Amino acid sequence: MTEIYLNGDFVLESEAKISVYDHGLLYGDGVFEGIRAYSKRIFKLKEHVDRLYESANTISLNIPMSKDEFAKKIVETCRRNNMVDGYIRVVVSRGVGDLGLSPFRCKKPTVIIIAKSIKLYSNENGLKLITTSVRRNPPQCLSPNIKSLNYLNNILGRIEAHQRNADEALFLDIDGYVSEASADNVFYVKEGLITTPPTATNLKGITRATVLEIAKKLGYDTRVSHFILSDIHNADEVFLTGTAAEIEPVVEIDSKKIGDGKPGKITMRIKEEYKKLVNSTGTPIYD
Ligand SMILES: Cc1ncc(COP(=O)(O)O)c(C=O)c1O
Repeated sequence: MTEIYLNGDFVLESEAKISVYDHGLLYGDGVFEGIRAYSKRIFKLKEHVDRLYESANTISLNIPMSKDEFAKKIVETCRRNNMVDGYIRVVVSRGVGDLGLSPFRCKKPTVIIIAKSIKLYSNENGLKLITTSVRRNPPQCLSPNIKSLNYLNNILGRIEAHQRNADEALFLDIDGYVSEASADNVFYVKEGLITTPPTATNLKGITRATVLEIAKKLGYDTRVSHFILSDIHNADEVFLTGTAAEIEPVVEIDSKKIGDGKPGKITMRIKEEYKKLVNSTGTPIYD
């Protein structure tokens, strides 16, 4: 039976319950992380914990333990669930309040860590994307760097993708530049040059940063730059990056074939290197 970390205790999944007055539920007031474990190691644990604390700090939410303690609790949750390969969900909400919006009536944040086994999936044939009519939240309204419990902006785009028979939604930012997908960062390759947008209008993806490092190590030219739809429509290769999705080739956007309509060579080379890295580095779960 899965054991969940909930507010200082480990409880069975069937007993892991939170209040209907939790502001994570009532207002989406909270932050989260999605982390992967491979071969008994947690990949980029420090980076995920750092981002969790940054998200929390941005919304003035004080996590009631140090980063070190938090990281240890994540490792312990994995250990108690005998994790080898899996997915870890960390949630910190504002906690239990009343029906009013005020975060100041919430006395204590709710802290949840779930470590579950997942099947490693891979879509080797590539994804079909549409550009959604929903624009990514502009930083003037809500920083896309906060990994918050409110994903409605992303979910609306994903619904539109589903309605238009696509696998994923590509979001533009409020100025019309390509931003990201609903839960992944985006890259395109043209004549060997690999480009991804700057992160003012999308999440500072940990996989994105890892891919930029891998690409440089493999000797590819990389660039962080704004770009527009016509750039990506005419790319040789496109791929998405994210902890859950890893490296996903994109073969079609807005009914236009990308390159030859098959996963690109550079994409697959980076994917191969990413697989090697995730299986050979990370924080050990067992001593
Ligand atoms: C909106 C959004 N963009 C990008 C990403 C990819 O980030 P990471 O590589 O850190 O998982 C995620 C995944 O959490 C996301 O939710």
